[in-house]
Amino acid sequence: MSKTVLITGASSGIGEATAKYFLQKGWNVAATMRSPHKAGDWAKVKGVICPFLDVTDPETITSAIHKTLEHFGRIDVLVNNAGYALMGPLEGVTPEQLEHQFQTNVFGLITTIQTILPVLRRQGGGTIINVASIGGRLAFPLTSSYHATKWAVEGLSESLSYELRRFGIHVKIIEPGGIKTNFIHHGTVWATHAEYTQMINQVKDFMQKINDSLPEAEGVAKTIYRAANDVSGRLRYSPYGELFFLLHAILPEKLWQSLVEKMMLGKSK
Ligand SMILES: NC(=O)c1ccc[n+]([C@@H]2O[C@H](COP(=O)([O-])OP(=O)(O)OC[C@H]3O[C@@H](n4cnc5c(N)ncnc54)[C@H](OP(=O)(O)O)[C@@H]3O)[C@@H](O)[C@H]2O)c1
Repeated sequence: MSKTVLITGASSGIGEATAKYFLQKGWNVAATMRSPHKAGDWAKVKGVICPFLDVTDPETITSAIHKTLEHFGRIDVLVNNAGYALMGPLEGVTPEQLEHQFQTNVFGLITTIQTILPVLRRQGGGTIINVASIGGRLAFPLTSSYHATKWAVEGLSESLSYELRRFGIHVKIIEPGGIKTNFIHHGTVWATHAEYTQMINQVKDFMQKINDSLPEAEGVAKTIYRAANDVSGRLRYSPYGELFFLLHAILPEKLWQSLVEKMMLGKSK
């Protein structure tokens, strides 16, 4: 019998690539999204359903999980992928912006996990894969709000892995480096503040410049698939992020910070 994966935020980027890759591998796919009517032809084949799911709306999480169970009978893997980045200086971030960032990247992910856990326990196991970021263990300028959410996802996931192991439920964290998706253009919301204009422009320039040279989402989809099938107990996977973690680990802190400043703000200390 085919296994089933439920993915949040499958309308584009990493979520869409992951849905297509699991489908190619013979899995049933619940490619959940906020705009199912926009799903491409790839999602109109047998073995795929596109339930509406907005992670900020708990009722849609429950209903998407029910629809998936009705259609495929079980859910083997949950991929918590939906997310976006609130960028800009913390001084310019409004309470509403910050709240929405956490509602999406953290509370939405938590509600999805809480809703699916009884299903996974009843089934006798499953895998929860949380898409964090290299920005879940490293930090870059003007990204404090986003980092706060992804660092939260890291800690939550690591702790959860201990409490769920006894139920046969594996937890995995995916920490991609920069990937060419809609993320930089449409998936990023900017907070502004007049005192930080120059810095904001420098970071925006940097992001525009690197976007075209970034790897495609398929590589991350393959890593997510590998994680879904990995029973070794491994927790973290860092597609395109390994070099950053290595440099961060071996370089003195001051040198690392100078490199980040030079790379993103065009200056060194
Ligand atoms: N691209 C990168 O460089 C990078 C690096 C590290 C980690 N990540 C993480 O990877 C994940 C996917 O991002 P991506 O790069 O693939 O960007 P993307 O192409 O912008 O995809 C983001 C997905 O999240 C969905 N989404 C946003 N808010 C949602 C909500 N409230 N409910 C349900 N879905 C929602 C979007 O849906 P709509 O189409 O409806 O907006 C879209 O499907 C994110 O968690 C991101 O933080 C990305």
